[in-house]
Amino acid sequence: MTTNLADIGLVGLAVMGQNLALNIADHGYHIAVYNRNSEKTLDFIKRCEHEEPAHEHVKGYVDMLAFVRAIKRPRKIVLLVKAGAATDATIEALLPHLEQGDIVIDGGNAHWLDTIRREKHLSSLGFAFIGSGVSGGETGARFGPSLMPSGTLEAWSSLEPIWRDIAAKIDHKTGEPLPGAAPGKPVEGGVPCTAYIGPNGAGHYVKMVHNGIEYIDMQLICEAYWLMKTLLGMEAGEIGKVFQEWNEGVLSSFLIEITADILQQKDPAGEGYLVDKVLDAAGQKGTGQWTASSALELGAPANAIAEAVFARALSALKDERVKASKVLQGPVVKLETDRVAIIEAIRDALYCSKICAYAQGFQLMAEAQIAYAWTLNFGAIAHIWRGGCIIRARFLQKITDAYATDPGLKNLMLDPYFTEVLHTGQAHWREVIALAVRNGIPVPAFGSALAYLDGYRSASLPANLLQAQRDYFGAHTYERTDQSRGRFFHVDWPAVGRPQSEM
Ligand code: 6PG
Repeated sequence: MTTNLADIGLVGLAVMGQNLALNIADHGYHIAVYNRNSEKTLDFIKRCEHEEPAHEHVKGYVDMLAFVRAIKRPRKIVLLVKAGAATDATIEALLPHLEQGDIVIDGGNAHWLDTIRREKHLSSLGFAFIGSGVSGGETGARFGPSLMPSGTLEAWSSLEPIWRDIAAKIDHKTGEPLPGAAPGKPVEGGVPCTAYIGPNGAGHYVKMVHNGIEYIDMQLICEAYWLMKTLLGMEAGEIGKVFQEWNEGVLSSFLIEITADILQQKDPAGEGYLVDKVLDAAGQKGTGQWTASSALELGAPANAIAEAVFARALSALKDERVKASKVLQGPVVKLETDRVAIIEAIRDALYCSKICAYAQGFQLMAEAQIAYAWTLNFGAIAHIWRGGCIIRARFLQKITDAYATDPGLKNLMLDPYFTEVLHTGQAHWREVIALAVRNGIPVPAFGSALAYLDGYRSASLPANLLQAQRDYFGAHTYERTDQSRGRFFHVDWPAVGRPQSEM
């Protein structure tokens, strides 16, 4: 009988769940699937029968107990349900059916503190819990996602062969993602875009930072597009071709590639380009905001990532903006004619800003690993993001290289390759921002990223005055430049004729 048991189970047959299940089955694993609404399970099984080749390795269950019993022990059960209450409810429903040593794997976009809580709860009951970031959307789930798992090493060793098989793959020699798989034909060989991230919530934290970087990456691309449109008067299709060209060089990435496609897409329902008809009010599901909130809590200067979240929030105030545009005035945009030079400058601004954004994301993870007692491998994280995920990009290899050269690297901007790019690109970057500011075109992400560079490279900042202000109104004390760090002083301001006291 045991031979008929499934290698793994999966709960949650929305888009991601269905595609991940097919990916697992493509790799020869037998998989049992379950969905709370059994109609979805039955529909999915029909889809499996009609897929080319048909998926005999997938078996659907409408009863949870039967589903759990159909899986080999120790059971591995992947959850792909909505993050939050639905995940807790699914775990609670599963618990009575599990046996000691079974492993629950949450592949949703869970908040890392929830994952820490769930891992603790399940391990107290004798079960294992893995929180695994899964990135790559529908296609990634189907043909090779980027996977960021965390939990106990023992649980990971049980899941690892499957996770390595289904992940996106990178070519050993070129470092480039291997071409996509096809139904029933998984990619052979290559280095998988997955690795053990750490204990409890580490995987979901890293996935969250991935999403924070996704937000800023997207915002930077949008600002580059907007400058070409408003300052150079270019049509969407023309701008799309610029992105297509950029995708051949250092900026080569999934987001640049899809931007090129999007901008060249004609409106299927009318004249002109589709992008010009899409309403400029951005949505968000919260992972970018979590990243910014975590940065605020940890005191990590991820200002550009936070800026990208605020840029979405400002865009969403569409009606207010329309009204304000009739009241609040700014400079009239003066069209620039030197198209070639300005496009080149925008490209440099984009690349330099991107480097700062990633530096912030990695700096944030470095703070988080201290706060949560994790030991993160930043080179490996950059490798995992090299293929399958939304922020996959050629330049991530440079990040892996940077950490291979110096595992203790404090900030990516200090790696010689990135320092050099920032040195050669910053004149253009500053020009672009100046041009945007003069013309009243908002470029919050470009500007915020530059402020990060300028702040980080400044041996002196005006925080001396700020500390004095704090001491003036609240006796918050200050350190002195002529005394060792850690000695705090206070005076009763205005301090004329009053002694300074050491606190
Ligand atoms: C991924 C994505 C994905 C995320 C979407 C939507 O890695 O596949 O990050 O997990 O949910 O990108 O995010 P927003 O709705 O917040 O833009």
